Amino acid sequence: MNPAQGLLNTSLLLSLLVFRFCISLDTISPNQPVKDGDILVSKGQTFALGFFSPGNSGRRYVGIWYYKVPKQTVVWVANRDSPLNDTSGVLSINGHGNLVLTGQNRSTPIWSTNASVSSTNDSSAQLLDTGNLVLVLPDSQRFTWQSFDYPTNTMLPYMKIGLDRRTGFSRYLTSWKSEDDPGTGNYSLEIDPIGYPQVFLKKGGTPLCRGGPWTGQRFSGVPEMNHNFVLNYSYVNNQDEVTIVNGITDPRVLTRAVLTESGIIDRSTWNKDRWLVFSSTPKESCDMYKECGPNSYCDPYNPDKFHCTCFPGFEPNSTRDWYLRDGSGGCVRRQGVSTCHSGEGFVPLARVKVPDTSIARADMNLSLEECKQECLRNCSCTAYTSADETRGGIGCLSWHGDLVDTRVYSNAGQELYIRVDAVVLAQYLEKKGLLKSKKMLAVLVVSVAVVLLLLVSIGYWLEEEAGKAKVCLILPQYQHIFKNLHVV
Ligand SMILES: *[C@@H]1O[C@H](CO)[C@@H](O)[C@H](O)[C@H]1NC(C)=O
Ligand SMILES: *[C@@H]1O[C@H](CO)[C@@H](O)[C@H](O)[C@H]1NC(C)=O
Ligand SMILES: *[C@@H]1O[C@H](CO)[C@@H](O)[C@H](O)[C@H]1NC(C)=O
Ligand SMILES: *[C@@H]1O[C@H](CO)[C@@H](O)[C@H](O)[C@H]1NC(C)=O
Ligand SMILES: *[C@@H]1O[C@H](CO)[C@@H](O)[C@H](O)[C@H]1NC(C)=O
Ligand SMILES: *[C@@H]1O[C@H](CO)[C@@H](O)[C@H](O)[C@H]1NC(C)=O
Ligand SMILES: *[C@@H]1O[C@H](CO)[C@@H](O)[C@H](O)[C@H]1NC(C)=O
Ligand SMILES: *[C@@H]1O[C@H](CO)[C@@H](O)[C@H](O)[C@H]1NC(C)=O
Ligand SMILES: *[C@@H]1O[C@H](CO)[C@@H](O)[C@H](O)[C@H]1NC(C)=O
Repeated sequence: MNPAQGLLNTSLLLSLLVFRFCISLDTISPNQPVKDGDILVSKGQTFALGFFSPGNSGRRYVGIWYYKVPKQTVVWVANRDSPLNDTSGVLSINGHGNLVLTGQNRSTPIWSTNASVSSTNDSSAQLLDTGNLVLVLPDSQRFTWQSFDYPTNTMLPYMKIGLDRRTGFSRYLTSWKSEDDPGTGNYSLEIDPIGYPQVFLKKGGTPLCRGGPWTGQRFSGVPEMNHNFVLNYSYVNNQDEVTIVNGITDPRVLTRAVLTESGIIDRSTWNKDRWLVFSSTPKESCDMYKECGPNSYCDPYNPDKFHCTCFPGFEPNSTRDWYLRDGSGGCVRRQGVSTCHSGEGFVPLARVKVPDTSIARADMNLSLEECKQECLRNCSCTAYTSADETRGGIGCLSWHGDLVDTRVYSNAGQELYIRVDAVVLAQYLEKKGLLKSKKMLAVLVVSVAVVLLLLVSIGYWLEEEAGKAKVCLILPQYQHIFKNLHVV
């Protein structure tokens, strides 16, 4: 054997060894557990899995974080509510094909996956490059369990959030308790299927901020979803599920949404050495659920004025509260008016986050005009708009009851058509008519002005021409002067 061949053989052996090492690096198999101190790294080296201690805590948790981000950024925690007190932890596949985490006592799991794996002992867990830890059987590519089904406080691209209507299984985010404790906190971000489905930020199960229903490109209450430069969303609402997934248009970008310990949803991207937050929700008091009570809307753009305003035809339920700038009591329809088959109609409100759709009905088959007629026919219908704002509006969304948690935006949102009595309708139409006639008057004034201007300038031009003629006539008399000047 010549030396070159020997070298070749050695390098072959070496590369084989490295290869073996690499393929086992992202996988936990029955005879290859992960002990505290070991890490798994996904194939593309985007994510790592291992044991960690958050913040100032000394406790040990199994988590997934970005492999290449120097500031450890945990995106998922397995045993968030049952930490280990020491470094005795082992994550392994048990005899039933489930992932289990054990401490000192190897026979009592601290945490485990609940997959029903039928009669198998050779399933394995793999950390994918999306940050998803999946439990698979070697013969099938079906996941028997995946960490994406049990999100903690972070939503990653390709992670599905929402409800499986067939099984009732819901995937939602929950905050950490604190920076030192990844345990289940009080804030949650979830899709609520009641009425027409909406996304809600809740605190202890109570709505804190309503993202609202999907309107084609975004949630009604999250206008910044329109300007998401790296993300694309896919929303599904059918008899099987109501879910949202976000994809990513540039796979080199690391991006995540985190529900923080203080109940804020921060969307950020990693750049050079830090996470850049490009959207935060909620932002202002108008984003808080029911800030202005029923039948009124919140307008944050006029800081001199009270931010709550009653809908047309409504008045404050308590004038004293309103005077003291407490909008929570909302508004009631003016006394003694009828909005049932007595000449009522609709008045539009522009650029709104639509009211709470838990009492709304949707019919994707109706046009906006049919929607109006349908709403007009039914006296319990209080407002309507398009269900989907794509292509100028598709479908019909109608409310039957108090209109709750509406706000306006400066440059986003839909038109909401609010049912009003005949008097308010007449006032609105008159104002609109006045506006129209004012517009016509303006057009008339402008036309007259243009004609006048034209006449005046023609007159001026004529006069000037006449003047020029005079100058021309006079000029020859002075020609000798110019000649002299030229000579000089
Ligand atoms: C860790 O310590 C706490 C309190 O000291 C105890 O309640 C808990 O059971 C311990 N956990 C484990 C896994 O030993
Ligand atoms: C370990 O757990 C098993 C089952 O809960 C229990 O029977 C056993 O006593 C424990 N062993 C120790 C050393 O604590
Ligand atoms: C597994 O199921 C048990 C009982 O149904 C539950 O208490 C536990 O939280 C589940 N574990 C996981 C990881 O889902
Ligand atoms: C898996 O099960 C087979 C028989 O069903 C058995 O021969 C084998 O030893 C088991 N392997 C492990 C790792 O337990
Ligand atoms: C969650 O809410 C409960 C009840 O209001 C409170 O006792 C607890 O401290 C809260 N937890 C956190 C992490 O804020
Ligand atoms: C997002 O865009 C990428 C690239 O254009 C595409 O591959 C992916 O399927 C899209 N994802 C979603 C959820 O629309
Ligand atoms: C108006 O106030 C009364 C008394 O406080 C209350 O019972 C009623 O529900 C309020 N109306 C609305 C629409 O909130
Ligand atoms: C909408 O129209 C389609 C086809 O015309 C029909 O199959 C469907 O049942 C209609 N949906 C509703 C809610 O009326
Ligand atoms: C009006 O709409 C409500 C809610 O959709 C419905 O329960 C009621 O039957 C409708 N009434 C009429 C007269 O169509």
